[in-house]
Amino acid sequence: MKTIIEPFKIKSVEPIRFTTAAEREVFIKRAGYNLFLVPAEQVLIDLLTDSGTSAMSAEQWAGIMRGDESYAGARSYYRFEAKVRELTGFAHVIPTHQGRAAERILFSLVGGPGKVVPNNAHFDTTRANVEFAGAEAVDLPTAEGRDPDVVADFKGNMDTAALEAFIASRGPAAIPLVMITVTNNSGGGQPVSMKNIRDTKEICARHGIPLFLDACRFAENAYFIKLREPGYSGVPARDIARELFSYADGATMSAKKDAIVNMGGFLAMNDASLAQRARNLLIITEGFPTYGGLAGRDLEAIAQGLDEVLDEHYLQYRIRSVEYLGEKLTAAGVPIMRPPGGHAIYLNARAFLPHIPVDEYPGQALAVELFRMGGIRSVEIGSVMFGKYDAAGRLIPARMELVRLAIPRRVYTQSHIDYVIEVVVECFGRREELRGYEIVEQAPVLRHFTARFRPKP
Ligand SMILES: Cc1ncc(COP(=O)(O)O)c(C=O)c1O
Repeated sequence: MKTIIEPFKIKSVEPIRFTTAAEREVFIKRAGYNLFLVPAEQVLIDLLTDSGTSAMSAEQWAGIMRGDESYAGARSYYRFEAKVRELTGFAHVIPTHQGRAAERILFSLVGGPGKVVPNNAHFDTTRANVEFAGAEAVDLPTAEGRDPDVVADFKGNMDTAALEAFIASRGPAAIPLVMITVTNNSGGGQPVSMKNIRDTKEICARHGIPLFLDACRFAENAYFIKLREPGYSGVPARDIARELFSYADGATMSAKKDAIVNMGGFLAMNDASLAQRARNLLIITEGFPTYGGLAGRDLEAIAQGLDEVLDEHYLQYRIRSVEYLGEKLTAAGVPIMRPPGGHAIYLNARAFLPHIPVDEYPGQALAVELFRMGGIRSVEIGSVMFGKYDAAGRLIPARMELVRLAIPRRVYTQSHIDYVIEVVVECFGRREELRGYEIVEQAPVLRHFTARFRPKP
């Protein structure tokens, strides 16, 4: 059969609150035209993020009931530890309340002034934790990874030639570790090839530098390798994931993505002395080493989720539903970043709304309109989020004006996705009517979370 179906039956549902266009007009105005300020209850389809928004399975909920809440040595910890070890092969497994806690602990230990951490592309919190520890965060994506219009299989790859040159220029002593983010969050989750991970490991090993993975979306990356990399089509995604981890010396993980839970994470590694120092830090802010920042029940749900995420029916449905959204939008002429990644579609707002100048925030205009027209919440990733000002107070725009539609795991069905397609295509048909926005209130940092806007006349 050609039809790819959702590989689950739905046993518990959460009603969507339907709203009228007139109601949404009131909601968005009240929120200062900022979708972060719209209460979730007023949103019809919430594509703000794929992080922590997944639906847990019956087995995960059963695990919640089985959770052992003992302070020390809980049964749930040992189940979690065994599952992470079986998957990653790492000797030391440290639970944290989410990915950024693992990052903070890791970079507090290996970072510091004079140190520099190369990555294919740092996620914001990873960069923030590297920099907060006094070190420098450097992105080394490939040229094709930087071009939104190039269609290539592994746009998440590390530029290994640039990495070699970088190590030669800074010297290995300044580089406490190299990191690869799988999938690479930029571009909606572009995958990294096994060859690229192997090549990066070879370079690191030659210079005595450990390789760590930012493994949030390891399963989606493994499935892309199965689909696209020669030699892997017959290999189970589980074995591909294991091979991927086998080249690394450690990993940080936000379980809110590919462990399909609402909260959780871990830090794992082979270096016993580094792990001991990490546990010492963990105790100060997260908790005892057998629960980290989590309850026993969370550890059960993560252990179960790490298994379920590697089910190939799930992965086929997951990757295909994002691709389906991308294909339909492209067929309707809607400009998106290509090819579709693993967890999100990015609309290219600058091409969508060429008549709105960047200092009137085309991405914000598009995100607001998708809410107005269809109750869809997306997020602007452009000059509202990353714009800066020069000395004369003029906007220095972001490199791209994008709107991200991130797809939560196992939450929406194909008809929800069809609805999203209908709204975006309809909005595209009326694009000339859209107007820009100005900011009327903003915080000095991370302004996108709280800024208030006004439509331009
Ligand atoms: C690639 C990547 N790394 C790290 C993180 C941080 O994880 P958390 O939100 O659990 O702190 C995220 C979260 O979105 C991410 O996408």
